[in-house]
Amino acid sequence: MLRFTLTLGTLGILWTSGYVAQAQENAMSIGLRFQQETCYDTGGSVGKNIGYGARVPEFKTYDGAPAAKLPAAAAGDLSVDNAIHRRKSIRTYADMPVSLNQLTRLLIAADGITQVDSRIAHRSIPSAGALNPLEVYVAVSQVSGLDSGLYHFKVMDTSLELVKPGPVSAKLQAAALGQESVGNAPLALVITARFDRTTRKYADRGYRYVYMEVGGAMQSVYLQATALGLGTVAVGAFEDAKVNELLGLDGRTESALLILPVGYPAD
Ligand SMILES: Cc1cc2nc3c(=O)[nH]c(=O)nc-3n(C[C@H](O)[C@H](O)[C@H](O)COP(=O)(O)O)c2cc1C
Repeated sequence: MLRFTLTLGTLGILWTSGYVAQAQENAMSIGLRFQQETCYDTGGSVGKNIGYGARVPEFKTYDGAPAAKLPAAAAGDLSVDNAIHRRKSIRTYADMPVSLNQLTRLLIAADGITQVDSRIAHRSIPSAGALNPLEVYVAVSQVSGLDSGLYHFKVMDTSLELVKPGPVSAKLQAAALGQESVGNAPLALVITARFDRTTRKYADRGYRYVYMEVGGAMQSVYLQATALGLGTVAVGAFEDAKVNELLGLDGRTESALLILPVGYPAD
């Protein structure tokens, strides 16, 4: 009898603690769950394997789209140290076009190929497993030598592919909760990620790496803009679905992560 009572008691405790654990789990914010469920533990990476080992295109291209080769542009002459100390967010821009050379330097800073050795093509920013999940689009309003439109940076040969002709900045501004920095800039870079390039190796933990990498691209663009006498601001507040629709992305395989309007500072 005593044994029976103890067993029921033990079951009760076990049930209650299981219930509490489940309730705690349910109460966890999605951010905390993401952090916890993408930890490495002794068994390796936690989280789902997403397309593990799948073949994913290393480079994105718009076959048949009009493409313009970007010039071999000269670098700005500000030291990295100076650029770091002068960097700040700029949200209002002079009514002056940005040159194609400057745009080229910005694109290379964001995620361009900088050195090729016998092993890999190195980029301007580090990438987990050298899998390079980022893509860069440009909404062009005032860039000398380029018509207004939405362009895609074709990394493999440093060219720009025209995705959509005509002005796009007003739509991008509307999608970015009306932020004027986005609509008034001569150009805005939109950095997206093709997640499966990274998750096929690192599973769910790969999302962390992708978010880290867009931070690398962000700082690189800030520093290059500063070195070129331009200004930028990281814009993370936008309606994802609207930006993805503008770019023609499904929001799952590839999704917009950050907007960086660029122009000459207004003052
Ligand atoms: C991830 C991230 C998202 C941001 N989103 C916005 C934004 O949507 N709009 C904006 O005006 N600034 C945005 N900022 C810029 C910050 O407001 C800015 O960096 C901060 O105020 C510090 O100012 P500083 O960059 O001039 O030093 C963002 C910055 C980061 C890093």
